Amino acid sequence: MNTLASRSVERLVRGMPTSDGAGVKLTRVIGQPQLADLDPFLMLDEFGTDHPGDYIAGFPDHPHRGFETVTYMLDGCMRHRDNHGHEGVLVPGSVQWMTAGRGIIHSEMPEQQEGRMRGFQLWINLPAREKMTAPRYQEFAPQRIPRVESGAARVKVIAGTVEGVSGPITQPATEPTYLDIELVPGGQFTHALPAGHTAFVYVYEGAVAIGAGEAATAVDRHDLAVLSDTGAVRIEARAGSGTPHSPARLILVAGKPLREPVAKYGPFVMNTREELMQAFQDFQSGRF
Ligand code: CO
Repeated sequence: MNTLASRSVERLVRGMPTSDGAGVKLTRVIGQPQLADLDPFLMLDEFGTDHPGDYIAGFPDHPHRGFETVTYMLDGCMRHRDNHGHEGVLVPGSVQWMTAGRGIIHSEMPEQQEGRMRGFQLWINLPAREKMTAPRYQEFAPQRIPRVESGAARVKVIAGTVEGVSGPITQPATEPTYLDIELVPGGQFTHALPAGHTAFVYVYEGAVAIGAGEAATAVDRHDLAVLSDTGAVRIEARAGSGTPHSPARLILVAGKPLREPVAKYGPFVMNTREELMQAFQDFQSGRF
């Protein structure tokens, strides 16, 4: 067993229950006191509930500047509408990779009155040279996201490459990997990542062990594992408590760190305080 070639778990982080938008209940995993950020990732929210009262208020009009928001739906439908005339409905299994760039104002509202709403929103930083780029979307319906069987794993490739199959998202600034992985108990999945890329795993069903042999670390449902920065990721599904025979489900996300100063306030993420002030002024005077 070659332990040198495996990434280990450097930290385990538990998400913090919070609410955002007009009162949507969610779990903030990155972007909270235990894990303020994880360059280039600024925020990770998991939302998951069967109760309309937890999500029905949605996220009415709000601005973004200087980074990207990635919404990945597992269950439920969300209507998105922005001030540049872009509108659509995110359905289960779809991905919206929104480059806010110099600014958009949008709403994200549930397109359902009842039933389950579940998914993730990830914020990824942009380098200084691209913070004021024109806004753009990379939006993909579920059938546009390749599914790959790799050993015991069934993988949806949103960004990055598995078994020679590449996901539809491109972002040269951070070279992201974003995989949704289902693994039967006892099954293993190994994935090579570029050296130096920041990487994390978030388990949303079941339980896994990450790392090689004796050095593997148990990672439970709702744990985020921050991985060391070189080698391949090795994941094995464990029998979860109460769910010994159900598969583990997790996201594996990685990207090239930007190593730039971060000046952040709410939905604006820039490099300096002056740029933040400018963002406020531009928003308030209708220049988004
Ligand atoms: Co938003």
